[in-house]
Amino acid sequence: MIATANSSARVKMLALIFLLVVLIMVYPRSAQAGSRIRIQSWNLRYDSMPDDITVGETIAALNSTVPIDTQTTYYSNYTEQPWSTRRMGVKNEVLFNEVDLFTVNEGLHRQVEDLKELLDMPYIGVGRDDGAQAGEYQAIFYNPDSIELLSNDTFWLSNTPFEPSKYPGAGSYRSCTVGYFRTKKGGTKFVVINAHLDDQSDDQRRLGAALIKYRAAYEQETKNAPVFLVGDFNSQVSGETNGAYEITTGKLEFSADELNSTFVSKYSHLDTGFEFLDLIEQTPVENRLGNLATFTGFKNNADSFSRIDFQFGGNSGSWEAVRYKVGDNWYDDSYYLSDHRPVISDIFLG
Ligand SMILES: *[C@@H]1O[C@H](CO)[C@@H](O)[C@H](O)[C@H]1NC(C)=O
Ligand SMILES: *[C@@H]1O[C@H](CO)[C@@H](O)[C@H](O)[C@H]1NC(C)=O
Ligand SMILES: *[C@@H]1O[C@H](CO)[C@@H](O)[C@H](O)[C@H]1NC(C)=O
Ligand SMILES: *[C@@H]1O[C@H](CO)[C@@H](O)[C@H](O)[C@H]1NC(C)=O
Repeated sequence: MIATANSSARVKMLALIFLLVVLIMVYPRSAQAGSRIRIQSWNLRYDSMPDDITVGETIAALNSTVPIDTQTTYYSNYTEQPWSTRRMGVKNEVLFNEVDLFTVNEGLHRQVEDLKELLDMPYIGVGRDDGAQAGEYQAIFYNPDSIELLSNDTFWLSNTPFEPSKYPGAGSYRSCTVGYFRTKKGGTKFVVINAHLDDQSDDQRRLGAALIKYRAAYEQETKNAPVFLVGDFNSQVSGETNGAYEITTGKLEFSADELNSTFVSKYSHLDTGFEFLDLIEQTPVENRLGNLATFTGFKNNADSFSRIDFQFGGNSGSWEAVRYKVGDNWYDDSYYLSDHRPVISDIFLG
């Protein structure tokens, strides 16, 4: 009797240990110790129809009556609306996603200030035309409940990166914002770079990508922290103008000799083969959702749709892409919130 009881207890104990081992093995890494961050990046479309309608006036004018569905013509209005109209949808889209970081391209001063008020989130970044409030911001908003800002700066994607400047032949001044952050929960440090490459000059896009990659390699090496790059590349992963994507992902070389020498010496680092990995590819296929194209224009057909907005992570091996989604910018009884769609990803920082 006693021997039987002992061996049955041993069997139970072995079964329990086996169960524990199986549980540990199948338990998702994203639920274990470490930090998970959600980053939403979105080219907002600049405020091309400025008005002086305040946020309070927009809210007061909202119609709380729910339309009758049978009387609604779905996807009827695709024309661009003023920012004063679009901002409520943008704000709700970001809040609903409960993001830790929200990055914008094309945000004019009024737009980033509106979002600061509506989202109750601080932001970093400066206007690209003067390094203060003029021109578009590549802003990075962060949730102060979950994320702490350690340092930040802006540099220009030109031959003179430390001053507001335009690359010869580019359509506009082009800048990027660099933020060094720490998660409040796990205390994990990471860097986010938010960039917008030129729409007219492929040479600018290549130079911009090379400057960013050079800086990112320095950040990863000196801070020993993962680096994420987000933003609008104004170019795709394939075709004749995909140099920026190829340089970013390490498929094409760009010599540091062609970069501003002050920049090169300031951010000098060992050649450790730094490159960025596209988060959509890094995310397990079963965890990807949503659209492929990120640019839609204000169109009611897909003729000009393209994937030009990206999120990347540096090849530090210290993070894992958990989920990836290209969201919506046009709801069925509504209007386009922007001519781009938001990109949203969950990243586990190990
Ligand atoms: C509010 O929406 C309802 C339902 O779509 C519509 O019948 C009504 O005319 C709207 N009111 C105003 C003031 O726009
Ligand atoms: C679509 O939006 C534009 C801009 O606000 C407006 O002028 C137009 O009347 C709208 N069209 C329809 C069909 O609602
Ligand atoms: C972020 O950058 C702004 C503008 O250069 C600067 O005023 C601010 O002190 C910086 N914040 C941190 C925490 O580095
Ligand atoms: C590098 O950029 C700085 C300012 O951004 C500028 O003063 C310097 O002349 C540039 N160097 C070269 C070689 O162009």
